[in-house]
Amino acid sequence: MKDKTKFDNAASTLFAPQLVGLVTTVDRANRPNVATFAWIMSTSHDPELVAVSVSRQRYTYECLTDEFVINLPTKELLEQVWAVGTRSGRNVDKFQATGLTPIPADVVKPPRIAECPTHIECRIIDTLDTGDHTIFVGEVVAKSGDPDAMKDGALNERIEPLFHLGGKKFLCGRERIDVDRHRRGKGSV
Ligand SMILES: Cc1cc2nc3c(=O)[nH]c(=O)nc-3n(C[C@H](O)[C@H](O)[C@H](O)COP(=O)(O)O)c2cc1C
Repeated sequence: MKDKTKFDNAASTLFAPQLVGLVTTVDRANRPNVATFAWIMSTSHDPELVAVSVSRQRYTYECLTDEFVINLPTKELLEQVWAVGTRSGRNVDKFQATGLTPIPADVVKPPRIAECPTHIECRIIDTLDTGDHTIFVGEVVAKSGDPDAMKDGALNERIEPLFHLGGKKFLCGRERIDVDRHRRGKGSV
């Protein structure tokens, strides 16, 4: 067995890669905002719930009063993902600044992002303060996306989601692996 070594990296970097989402909200003046979040997860099947962990310093934190949309970006949107994840919507319209296109959501007030292939619309049902972040739990009220985004009940491998490794590093790949086929020595499906 190899010797182990101690790491002084943040624990979050050991959870990597983490799926990147673009969370849209509306502020008190009804202006849409968008920011990048990698601390996102599903938390329940029935009811269907998802959660996002948000620093209380973010403008998004102030906008998370009622509803939000998680839009899943692809590799082609890396520039925009970085831009909306490094600037605050407090003083700038990030849709205008990045060219991302807000389109109406099916159910909630915050917009979907046209360039993203999939969208999860949520209504906030709970929050949990945890250290310097707050976890917002959202009930899923609508799911939508490009017609070819899903294939056989899973994400189409033609779509390349973005994963965050930490800092300025991301990971991206499109191989779909089925565990049974993998055991038989042919993993990809
Ligand atoms: C790849 C990436 C992932 C991020 N993940 C989170 C996260 O999970 N939670 C968080 O509070 N901020 C996260 N951020 C930082 C926010 O996106 C960033 O502070 C943004 O400017 C907030 O914008 P706002 O002030 O308009 O809400 C992330 C940034 C990047 C680039």
